Amino acid sequence: MKILAIETSCDETALAVLGEQRGFLYLEKNLVYSQVNIHKKYGGVVPEVASRKHLETIMPLLDHALGKNKLKNIDYLAFTQGPGLVTSLVLGVAIAKALSLASNKPLVPINHLEGHIYSNWLTHKELQKNSKKYFPSVIAVVSGGHTELILMTGHGQYQLLGRTLDDAVGEAFDKVAKLLNLGYPGGPIVSRLATMGDAHKYDFPRPMINSHNFDFSLSGLKTAILYFMEKKQKINQQDVADICAGFQLAVTEVLVKKTFLAAKKYKAKAIMLAGGVSANTFLKQNLKNAADKLGLPFFAPDLKFTGDNAAMIGAAAYYQIKNKQAKFYLGEKAHKLEPLANWPLVEK
Ligand code: KG4
Ligand code: ZN
Repeated sequence: MKILAIETSCDETALAVLGEQRGFLYLEKNLVYSQVNIHKKYGGVVPEVASRKHLETIMPLLDHALGKNKLKNIDYLAFTQGPGLVTSLVLGVAIAKALSLASNKPLVPINHLEGHIYSNWLTHKELQKNSKKYFPSVIAVVSGGHTELILMTGHGQYQLLGRTLDDAVGEAFDKVAKLLNLGYPGGPIVSRLATMGDAHKYDFPRPMINSHNFDFSLSGLKTAILYFMEKKQKINQQDVADICAGFQLAVTEVLVKKTFLAAKKYKAKAIMLAGGVSANTFLKQNLKNAADKLGLPFFAPDLKFTGDNAAMIGAAAYYQIKNKQAKFYLGEKAHKLEPLANWPLVEK
């Protein structure tokens, strides 16, 4: 089985070719063109610019991914149908449809969040070998656009335990970085500065930490930091590092506590982290400690699969196909597919 996967949900143009080798997922090509340097100067992703850049990049990238064999060896075309920026998604959807119509290969639409979850399968052979041993798993999906606590009871089977009511975790990092004039994307910068700060110097709120549910609210934390800065007026480099560390600790404590309680309540067999924020070492370490306390294994994706990539989309498609859960689209049906900018992983 060979899969070409396409991901264009935000500001990364990504293609991957995956296959199977001796019963394991095998990643043949993994190409990611990140537009981050272009959006940096605007302080965030500009949808029109992202869309234009996807258009420029995707064809050369496709040539590179497929080589001279083109689609000859490809069996399935997986692509991110949503959620994401509609102006970005539309490029990936259009390319996937065109390739399918030209080659008569079936399309497999994938939810971007399911892709992030399967970045763990892509990383850990143990998960590929013994998936069943780790279900149900509690998975914290934390990215720039999403923060969801998911109970995964089997391949392709998800329950939504809780989610953010306002800002996503990555978004909160980005907004705090903006407040502190640190640049974009904020997550990597804030987490790096946090290592030089005293996390206990300033006491920031832990929103909803005792809310007796698994929802989150992060916009108040950002506002608390804004008020704090207005009051303090003069902020030196050490203050910035202390704020970053205090903020990171507050977010981590809330995330870890809720994930811990969810794992306990639902008798999880593993805890996992997924999404762009899974690159955060401090969060990873603290979640691992929580899993250790419960005697549970902890999984997080390899750094090269934490941000948006097509390999994770291919991995999700691979498991859907293997488990006979995939929906295939060909011909007229494929032609009718559209981006789903707000496609939830779990339908309410
Ligand atoms: O999954 P992703 O690449 O895109 C979305 O699907 O949203 O996630 C990007 C988000 C950004 O908000 C970025 O600031 C955050 O992930 N991020 C981090 C770190 N690295 C990336 N947040 C905290 N700590 C990090 N080390
Ligand atoms: Zn993402």
